[in-house]
Amino acid sequence: MSIHQMRQTYTLSGLQENDVDRDPIVQFEKWFQEAQSSDLPDWVEVNAMTLSTSDKAGCVTSRIVLLKGIEDGKFVFFTNYGSTKGGQIEANPSVSLCFFWPHLQRQVCIAGTALKTSREVSQTYFHSRPRGSQLGANVSMQSSEVTASDLQSRMSELEQKYADQEIPCPDHWGGYEVTPSTIEFWQGRPSRLHDRIVFRKSDKAWNIVRLSP
Ligand SMILES: Cc1cc2nc3c(=O)[nH]c(=O)nc-3n(C[C@H](O)[C@H](O)[C@H](O)COP(=O)(O)O)c2cc1C
Repeated sequence: MSIHQMRQTYTLSGLQENDVDRDPIVQFEKWFQEAQSSDLPDWVEVNAMTLSTSDKAGCVTSRIVLLKGIEDGKFVFFTNYGSTKGGQIEANPSVSLCFFWPHLQRQVCIAGTALKTSREVSQTYFHSRPRGSQLGANVSMQSSEVTASDLQSRMSELEQKYADQEIPCPDHWGGYEVTPSTIEFWQGRPSRLHDRIVFRKSDKAWNIVRLSP
C-alpha cells in the first residue's frame, strides 16, 4: 500500500466536555490506566512520550522519553542533563510532551515548563534502575560523538571498577518535572471530526474548551 493510501477510521469512542474530570491530571491518570489495561503485547510502552524542546533561536528537536511518574501534578522523566535536550531545556524551559495510544485512537498533548528534579529524587530513581542502566548512564555522554569501541571499553572499565560497589549517580544525570500549562485530550472520531478537549491553566484554575478538529 502506498503511503498516501494509508488511513484509519476512528470509531472506538468519543469525548464530551461533561465526560472529563474537572482536574486534567485525574483525567490523564484515567486515560493512562485505560491505555495500560487494554489487552496489549508486552512490547508496547504506554509511558513513551514525544518530548519536544527548542533552543533560544527557536530550533526544535523531538525524541521519545519515558514518563516515570506524576508528582504533585508534574510529569517526570529522567535523562542526561548534558544531552541535546538538556542543553535546550537549559536555554528554554518551555517543552511539550505528546502521548499516542493508537489502540485507543487517543492522543494527549501537554505544554509546560521543565525544571530539574531534586538531587534526591534523581538519585533515588537512579539506584532503582538495573545495574546495566546505571553503568550505561555513567558511560554515556549522551548526544556527543563517540565510537562504538570507546563506548564498549569504557563500559568494561566501569564494570570492573564498580564490581562490588554501589554505582554513583553521575552529576550529569537526573530528572526533569514538567509543570503543565495546557493539556489536550484527543479522541479520534469518524470523518475526521475528532474530539479535542483542552484544559488551560489560568491563575490556579483550569478552563476547559473544545477545539475544532
Ligand atoms: C522507547 C524509548 C524510550 C526512551 N526513553 C528515554 C528516556 O527515558 N530518557 C532518555 O534520556 N532517553 C530515552 N530514549 C532515547 C531518546 O529518544 C534519545 O535518543 C536520547 O535521549 C538523546 O536525545 P537528545 O540527543 O535529543 O537529547 C528513549 C528512546 C526510546 C525509543
